[in-house]
Parts: sequence; C-alpha cells; structure tokens
Amino acid sequence: MIIKKLESWYTSKRVTEITTLVGNRKYGKSYLAGKIEEIYCKNSWPFMVIDKMGIHYAVRNKFSDVVIIGGDHGDFGLDQIDEYLPVIMVKNINVVIDVSEFDELYAQEFVAELFEYLWAWHKEHKKPRNYIIEESDFFIGQMGSIKEVRSAITKCITKGRMYGFGFTLISQRYRMIDKTALAQTDNYVIFNMKLPLDLNLLKQLIGEKLDMRIKRLKQGQAIIMTDEGYSVYNIGDRETPSASNTPEYGVEIKVVETVQLSDKVEQLLAEFKGKVD
Ligand SMILES: Nc1ncnc2c1ncn2[C@@H]1O[C@H](COP(=O)(O)OP(=O)(O)OP(=O)(O)O)[C@@H](O)[C@H]1O
Ligand SMILES: [Mg+2]
Repeated sequence: MIIKKLESWYTSKRVTEITTLVGNRKYGKSYLAGKIEEIYCKNSWPFMVIDKMGIHYAVRNKFSDVVIIGGDHGDFGLDQIDEYLPVIMVKNINVVIDVSEFDELYAQEFVAELFEYLWAWHKEHKKPRNYIIEESDFFIGQMGSIKEVRSAITKCITKGRMYGFGFTLISQRYRMIDKTALAQTDNYVIFNMKLPLDLNLLKQLIGEKLDMRIKRLKQGQAIIMTDEGYSVYNIGDRETPSASNTPEYGVEIKVVETVQLSDKVEQLLAEFKGKVD
C-alpha cells in the first residue's frame, strides 16, 4: 500500500519509545494523540496524558476506564492527586492529568513535582507507561519553561528507558523543544509544515530532504520516520469526537459528552485510595 494506516504502525513496542508529533496548527496532532489514547485503551496499555489545553477528556466519550484528574471534566480535583496517583500507577490505570485550570507558572511547577514523583516510582517498579505531553514545548521548551520542569521531564526521557518510561511529545515546531529531549526521539511523526527553517532542521534531524512531500500533506496525513525509513500514513478516524475543533462562525461549539467512570476502576480507586505508596 502506498498510504498506510496508523494501526499497522502502532504496536506495543511504541509504549516505551519516544515519539514526537510535529507540524503546523490544525493538521491533526492533537487528533492523533486522541487516537493513540484509543489504541492504548483497546489494548490495555497504560498511558498518562499531561493536558494543558483541557481537550483530552474527550477519550472518556467512550472509554470508561480512563480516570480524569482536574479540569472541567475531572473525576476529582488536582488537589487529591496524592491520594489517587499511587493506585493509578500500581494498577496500570489510564489517566488524563488536566492542568488547564492552572496559570502557566503553577502548571509548570506542578508538572515538575509530578515527574519527580514518577521518576522515583518507575525506578522502583520498572513498569512500562507512555506519557503523552500536549504542547510539550511549554514544559520542555528551549525557551519559556522553568528549569525544574524541563530537567524533571528530560531526566525521564534520557535516562528512563529501562524504568519503563515512553513519551509522546506534541509541538508545532521542533526548534521549540529542548534539544536534549528531541535528540532521543525514536519516531518522528511529521504533519504539514512550510517554514524553510523548520524543514531545514528536520533535514538535519532525519538526514533526508522531504520538503515537497511535507508541504503537500493534507489534514490527517503524516510522514512517520523511524530507524527503518519513512512512509506516509493516514491517521484515519477516531471513535471519540475531537474537543479541539476549529470554531466556525455561527456554529455553536459542542462540549464532548463523557461516560461514567467504570465500576471496576471506581472500586479499585475506592479500595486502594491512600493505601499504597
Ligand atoms: N485524522 C483526522 N480525521 C478527521 N479530522 C481531523 C483529523 N485530523 C484533524 N482533524 C480535524 O482538524 C481539527 C484540528 O486538528 P488538531 O486539533 O489535531 O490540530 P493540531 O495539529 O493539534 O493543531 P494545534 O497546533 O493548533 O493544536 C480536529 O478537531 C478535527 O476536526
Ligand atoms: Mg493541538
């Protein structure tokens, strides 16, 4: 096949790899991240989303085993994270951490503390989990992010492989992400980009000049570049609606509906809340 399907590429080995999604606005990075979350839910692979935009709750439109902490759709607030996070980690429960309610500085400080905790946890337990970081340059940016959050996440990216850390990093431009973290990328998922500056950097990173192909990519299409080479992929449809649609004049924006948290997960949380380290 000339244009491949995402599902054929996204196997379990991606869970502990570093995948970077990059491209101009509206071409489908956040949409793909949501689709990746669906793949994880269906396969019972564990993920955590760090969601600064407040859009990833949409996975709960269908998948009732995903816990949401914080934001307008949270099962509970971020102030209760210490009680719930240990059981979420130990029981491999999928979770969206919605920090959209925090101001910029506090969100960064919070996420810095979170990754210090996660580093210690993974070092002890050595279990795989993928961390999907929406607008990742906000936390591991070359500019603008505080040292504490940049170094906490970068440590997990560079030294966390054997402890089970994998990452999905999302950003509009490669040059916005810290180079140390970027250098560890296993898989580049490239959406439409046009700036020569970005295309040149990409050439330096992947060693191939794909300018014409990248400029022609449509919404929902991406080039995936791995050690084995590159191919064009169709991201395809999601089973859950996107909460990041572009508003249209005169059209009311719909909030994506969510289903109740499953009894199974609810019971696990109730039983182990505050009882595991
Ligand atoms: N594979 C796809 N199939 C169908 N619609 C898509 C697809 N990808 C993107 N879209 C549509 O485009 C909209 C914008 O996509 P998305 O939110 O993923 O953009 P983005 O790349 O994350 O942009 P930004 O950098 O502004 O966050 C989606 O809400 C959806 O309506
Ligand atoms: Mg987006």
